[in-house]
Amino acid sequence: MSTTETWTIGKLLTWTTEYLKKSGSQSPRLDTEVLLAHARSCQRIELYTAFAEEPDEEVKAAFREMVRRRAEGTPVAYLVGHKEFYSATFEVNTDVLIPRPETEHLVVEALDRAKQMVEQRGAATTLRIADVGTGSGVVAITLAKQFADCRVTAVDISQAALEVARRNAAQHELGEDRIEFILGDLLSACEPQQQFDLILSNPPYVSESEYDHLPRTVRDFEPKQALVAGPDGSELIAKLIDQSFRCLAAAGYLIFELSPRLAESLVALTSGQWAGPWVTKDLAGLARVATLQKIG
Ligand SMILES: C[S@@+](CC[C@H](N)C(=O)[O-])C[C@H]1O[C@@H](n2cnc3c(N)ncnc32)[C@H](O)[C@@H]1O
Repeated sequence: MSTTETWTIGKLLTWTTEYLKKSGSQSPRLDTEVLLAHARSCQRIELYTAFAEEPDEEVKAAFREMVRRRAEGTPVAYLVGHKEFYSATFEVNTDVLIPRPETEHLVVEALDRAKQMVEQRGAATTLRIADVGTGSGVVAITLAKQFADCRVTAVDISQAALEVARRNAAQHELGEDRIEFILGDLLSACEPQQQFDLILSNPPYVSESEYDHLPRTVRDFEPKQALVAGPDGSELIAKLIDQSFRCLAAAGYLIFELSPRLAESLVALTSGQWAGPWVTKDLAGLARVATLQKIG
């Protein structure tokens, strides 16, 4: 990108899309628009009515720098500092996993089960919900926003991730009366007398060998602790199932995201104390969310 030419918005969009495509981006036009809109502090749609305009030097310099980093593999969400999830915007940085669209299936399943529970128990019920491995807080915050009759406990092993999640909760105007954040290893920090109606989790479920084959944009930028569970990938799910039994109220649900590969071994991980698993598929038709109900 020469700095002496006239670089209108239209020209910047065309040139950069081609450049990012050659650099390996799977969504070069979208990436370009998001980065240019961010540099220009405007909505993407506004670029389309400003094709002939030439942005000022400061905007072009900020855009060039982001394009350079994008071409090196930095995910767009880390460059602009936010990501959309369930039609809302969440802050992200390299301390947290970038929320994935697949995780919206976990939220939909949790909302369905929560509504059923309140219907059965009566309108005055306040459900107690845990989100284990909250990361940026997307699951906990979306549940609290979409479902007024609940109080959420969000847990993560990473202090840095919890700071991002706390800022997101404040941004979405959810106070401590709706969400509390706890530093801990899965559910081990939860009080023995604390009983949840729903335990939700998108835990790390990648095996060490799968991790080696993930795209570089994931391996080089996203926190390994958010992805890898151990040699098999099922380690944290197995631990979570075990701990959840102790922390769930009678007839409570454990709902978690998993890899399609692990869905096959799920029955072996659950004993006779659980009903289910009921498995929900994602948009690609792959097993993505499992639901268990405590019957013991
Ligand atoms: C796959 S990310 C999910 C983040 C977020 N819930 C989402 O769906 O985008 C997993 C999260 O679990 C956290 N984590 C990893 N091991 C943990 C453990 N033993 N106990 C609690 N959290 C853990 C990671 O720090 C990370 O934030």
